[in-house]
Amino acid sequence: MKEFCTRRQRLLDMMQDNSICIMPAANLVTRSRDTEYAFRQDSYFHYLCGFPEPQAWLVLSNQRRSSARSKTSLSVLFCLDNDPTAELWQGKRIGPLQAKKSFELNLAFSLDELDEQLLTLLDGHDHLYFAQGHNSEADELVFSLLEALRDAPKQSMQAPSSIIDVRPLLDEMRLFKSAAEVAIMRRAAEISGQAHQRAMQRCRAGLNEYHLEAQLHYEFAMNGAKHPAYGSIVGSGANACILHYTQNDQPLNDGDLVLIDAGCELQGYAADITRTFPVSGRFSPAQKILYELVLEAQQAAFAQVKPGNTFKQVSDAAVSVLTQGLIKLGLLSGSLAFNLQKQLYREYFMHGIGHWLGLDVHDVGSYKFAGEDRPFEPGMVLTIEPGLYVAHDADVDTQWQGIGIRIEDNLLVTEQGYDNLTKDTPKRIAEIESLMAQQSV
Ligand code: GLY
Ligand code: MN
Ligand code: MN
Repeated sequence: MKEFCTRRQRLLDMMQDNSICIMPAANLVTRSRDTEYAFRQDSYFHYLCGFPEPQAWLVLSNQRRSSARSKTSLSVLFCLDNDPTAELWQGKRIGPLQAKKSFELNLAFSLDELDEQLLTLLDGHDHLYFAQGHNSEADELVFSLLEALRDAPKQSMQAPSSIIDVRPLLDEMRLFKSAAEVAIMRRAAEISGQAHQRAMQRCRAGLNEYHLEAQLHYEFAMNGAKHPAYGSIVGSGANACILHYTQNDQPLNDGDLVLIDAGCELQGYAADITRTFPVSGRFSPAQKILYELVLEAQQAAFAQVKPGNTFKQVSDAAVSVLTQGLIKLGLLSGSLAFNLQKQLYREYFMHGIGHWLGLDVHDVGSYKFAGEDRPFEPGMVLTIEPGLYVAHDADVDTQWQGIGIRIEDNLLVTEQGYDNLTKDTPKRIAEIESLMAQQSV
């Protein structure tokens, strides 16, 4: 709770004088008729207050008050009222009274008072910090209130004259993880790593991709992580070449590899791990060669993760290793310089080397400053995920066709370089083969 308060104060301090910020919670989304998708709180809203319910709003103000010379900070929450009937059907609500105490807010109101109170709160501020376009219901309400303020009789009320996007401020804060956030991400990584091991140990020909998906989700849930951080990818054989494959309904065949890209969400934070292993437990010679190449590229990329370096340097290191390997194996031809200049590796490695990781799997935070790649700094968390994907009908020696491999880890940038949060998830060939030899039922 102290951390949420500190974040709100930091945002209030960064906002221009006499500003207000309005941040809506996420909405429930209909799945069918009267059932909804599992609720997930909006990442920005969660970051600022941790309140876990839908139909809530956070309002922050640093209004200059005539009675006080200095700015005063105000945190206000609107949330659903306690209601025995609704709570009988849908579950407990925290309610404004308890929310004010538990979430250390200055004020908390019933959602029923939102329109009226928000109009009063908006009045007299010079600037409104708001994420326009992020939530259409919020856009509608906020813009109608602004109009009401502008139309007030005899200019008795003052509408903020500028709307400033609050996201860049929050994105920059979210990019740097605190010790508390790192601790959660470390645990999310640990649980996810265990889930990958569970899937490896239970993998065998004759099962289906969805059986492995079930093993992953079982391990997540048994460790208190109720949801995956994104749609789990379990792609066997050539399905591994579909980058965001989530169909996960094909049989696991002897001789194929299976690519699993899955991570749990814990207290809002994502892990994002990919491992690729043989259905049978033993890599074929061709699979081994391509796998070692991806692993070598990942090691070269890791070596570039340190303060001052950029994603470009990380990517260049991986791409250089992959390209040299692909030329040596005959999957590319011509000189290294020519292949790099023409980016011919893109035929087999067509996605980026990694991304920021945090509350969102593809987390917020700018990748560039003034058009230049931004340097890494301690506290950033990112993924490194090289891969090779040879289409089943690629014009190459048949031994390579239909092989898809990705290896993805989650790294915290430190003063010295990096700390690999997912290092305990097996990825060396010998480690994987030995783990898979100890099959579990
Ligand atoms: N799981 C999506 C990604 O690796 O970026
Ligand atoms: Mn991934
Ligand atoms: Mn990723």
